[in-house]
Amino acid sequence: MAEIQLKCVTCHRAYDKQEVDYTCPACGPIRGTLEVVYDLETVRRRFRREDLKASRENSHWRYLPVLPIDQPERILPLSVGWTPLYRNPTLEREWQLKRVWIKDDSRNPTASYKDRASSVGVVKALERGARVVTAASTGNAASSWAAFTALAGLETVIFVPRHAPRAKIAQLLLFGAKVLQVEGTYDEAFDLCMQAAEKWGWYNRSTAINPYLGEGKKTAALEICEQLDWQVPDYVFVPVGDGCIIQGMWKGFRDFYHLGFIDRLPRLIGVQAAGSAPLVTAWEKGQDTVEPVEPRTFADSIAVGVPRDQVKALKAVRESGGRFIAVEDDAIRQAMALLARVGGIMAEPAAAAAFAGLRKMVLENLLPSHSTVLVQITGSGLKDIDGVFQAVRQSPIRIENSLAAVERALKV
Ligand SMILES: Cc1ncc(COP(=O)(O)O)c(C=O)c1O
Ligand SMILES: [Zn+2]
Repeated sequence: MAEIQLKCVTCHRAYDKQEVDYTCPACGPIRGTLEVVYDLETVRRRFRREDLKASRENSHWRYLPVLPIDQPERILPLSVGWTPLYRNPTLEREWQLKRVWIKDDSRNPTASYKDRASSVGVVKALERGARVVTAASTGNAASSWAAFTALAGLETVIFVPRHAPRAKIAQLLLFGAKVLQVEGTYDEAFDLCMQAAEKWGWYNRSTAINPYLGEGKKTAALEICEQLDWQVPDYVFVPVGDGCIIQGMWKGFRDFYHLGFIDRLPRLIGVQAAGSAPLVTAWEKGQDTVEPVEPRTFADSIAVGVPRDQVKALKAVRESGGRFIAVEDDAIRQAMALLARVGGIMAEPAAAAAFAGLRKMVLENLLPSHSTVLVQITGSGLKDIDGVFQAVRQSPIRIENSLAAVERALKV
């Protein structure tokens, strides 16, 4: 088992894992997010790149030596991660890039990236002896959490905002969670969930405040390194709401860099919807924290006014030498259609935002040509059919049941 400590991202105080479950008591929930720190010297002695070649574990548990699990026997049998990484020669040609890679995390058990975090979080909940668990979420984290906690036999109370897409709510109900659809935004649902968890002592999977989630979220970066034969791309595009995925991926790249598995780090590009882009603004102004905004975007998963992992996300992007960029909803709609047609991937709006960010940087000459780039797709379009309908221009052509009608409709 990897020995860990929990280190505050602001005051850098290191806590023993028994001392604290969520955030640094001195710095509070936004500034005091905790990072899981391993004794990498010890890990290095027990875990080598070559070990992975022999591994038959086709899930992200192949990286168990760098995951914060004390009781591996509690890992649940839902296969998470080891998602496909596609090369796209059409886009390489068209955009004059050396390599375009697309990693498709809609291929996880509940069809989003969030399964990476939930699969780790549920083990931590079980290790803690939790009976009732909770989360606030724009939808994906919750539906993922509900699947894992159902399997673990835990009682689950979920807080979602008023506008969560129906498919995500359907998933939650099917997995048997108690769903509280809050009259308000995601940010309001988040605060209510925090209060309830504290009052009734529920184990809380809400993003960023729980340090173990970021460890689950780092595993796509580990996979990218291994799947690309330890040659990391120049740029990695990630959609950003709370900032937990992007900071988690940065942690993954850094862990493998410090273990000597890779010899350089990628630049991370955090993509936000223009109507909900507090991190873009903070990055442009050189601030360490954001000014809250009223989110306005159809990409519900990244409609976040107060990013809970803002400190780590800003730090990650700066350390990597990358940037934040905003994309308009219309550009996201176009990106959804393009990604489907050239990549065969049906992404939900938030996920397609990362691809829209790449397209924007190419069109605006913000990327050196012949760069190698990777786009992280984080969720399936089946999660938000109304969002998908916004990205398609055509309707089905209604015809009567005759060949003549086919002929008229297609003008053949
Ligand atoms: C599909 C999808 N993409 C991107 C994100 C953004 O992740 P984060 O909030 O960690 O920045 C989310 C979060 O809900 C998501 O569900
Ligand atoms: Zn602190």
